Amino acid sequence: MSNKKASIEFDGKSLELDTIVGTENEIGIDITSLRAKTGMITLDPGYGNTGSCTSDITFIDGEKGILRHRGYAIEDLAANSTFVETAFLVLYGHLPSEIELATFEEELSEHSSLHYGLKHHFDGFPENAPPMAVLSAMLNTLACYNTELLTTATEGPGFTVPTMKILSKVRAISAWAYRSSVGKPFMPPRPDLSYTGNFLHMMFSDTFKPYEVLPEVERAMDLFFVLHADHEQNCSTSTVRLVGSSRASLFTSVAAGVGALWGPLHGGANAEVIKMLTNIHENGIDPKEYVEQAKDKNSNVKLMGFGHRVYKSFDPRAKILKEQVDIVLKAMNIEDPLLDIAKELEEMARSDSYFVERNLYPNVDFYSGILLRAIGIPVDMFTVLFAIGRMPGWIANWREMHVQNMRINRPRQVYTGASLRPYTPMGER
Ligand code: ACO
Repeated sequence: MSNKKASIEFDGKSLELDTIVGTENEIGIDITSLRAKTGMITLDPGYGNTGSCTSDITFIDGEKGILRHRGYAIEDLAANSTFVETAFLVLYGHLPSEIELATFEEELSEHSSLHYGLKHHFDGFPENAPPMAVLSAMLNTLACYNTELLTTATEGPGFTVPTMKILSKVRAISAWAYRSSVGKPFMPPRPDLSYTGNFLHMMFSDTFKPYEVLPEVERAMDLFFVLHADHEQNCSTSTVRLVGSSRASLFTSVAAGVGALWGPLHGGANAEVIKMLTNIHENGIDPKEYVEQAKDKNSNVKLMGFGHRVYKSFDPRAKILKEQVDIVLKAMNIEDPLLDIAKELEEMARSDSYFVERNLYPNVDFYSGILLRAIGIPVDMFTVLFAIGRMPGWIANWREMHVQNMRINRPRQVYTGASLRPYTPMGER
């Protein structure tokens, strides 16, 4: 708590409220006592001004384009860390020692395959089942095979075992969702491969033809996961916390997170960007014309991959991914016309007053689709890969909430519907 107070005046009465100042000097007015003392609530549709919690995990300064996990800059982690190490950091708050990292990797390896019974569930989905729906359903199905782990433990095996199972098996579930949709058999994990190498193997290896992972591709894929590891109280993380606040299990809370991430305004945007670029390319649309449409509120068109609720300058993750796209395309000897269109759109938007005045910059999804496409990931799997990357953040937030013993999340509303009226019998309506 800070010793500075804020006050609210209404109807001749005033109320003094505490304030809290975060490590980076963000100030929050604590309105916990507001309703009890005044009968009033605050109204903030979309929660743009509402802090739902205090958190030690991730810091974002959207105006300055800063993203840090546990105090480490995303640029530093991207240059020096791996996804597994970043996952440990996000979960436990410190960079792992050599032994901690080795144990963490071993546990991930131990939990990498799927229970045989679980495999039958994939047969029940139609071939064209959206992989995000399959992922969410299968995370809940994992709960059915681990009923002894449906707790809200934050320490010891009650927490680490479900965490390891989810972090590790999410790769096999995702790879299998893809393989069953294209009629390929399940490819068992290989303990000799890295976390990300193993995922690529489970996605793309064939029985007699193991997938050969280019180091540049493995690094780019791993970096993609690092860049998605956490992003404080976004739509899906808030969903995980909301569901978890009812003391629902970790499995079900992250399954709900997958649902929230699926939407085109959130994680689904990476697929929408590629659909947009493909549409422009295949239908010979002039990018300038497309930008004009995106500015027209009646057109229902948006420049996908642009804009962000929090970032009002460049999304630092987009910068890193843009560089990776160039590295991977070069290593794979690919020329992608969609990349040229993307760069052209970005250039136009960044000098257009509509986008400049509204602080609309490329977000993480703008270039990630081009990277994933080059690696051979099908478009409907893009958001699934986002979910794999975001898993440590969801789990860390779920854990933190329980460590803080958070009350059940339950927003209020200002009711604007009809006042009390008598029931009208059928003949009189
Ligand atoms: N194209 C055109 N106009 C846009 C765009 C865009 N991509 N994004 C925002 N705007 C406009 C809005 O129409 C609004 O204009 P107005 O002030 O004239 O009414 C203004 O910019 C502010 O936008 P809001 O909608 O208020 O921003 P909000 O914070 O509610 O939404 C969001 C953020 C959802 C990301 C939005 O920018 C968007 O839809 N972008 C495209 C989808 C996308 O890329 N999503 C991925 C986000 S990153 C992530 O979740 C991982």
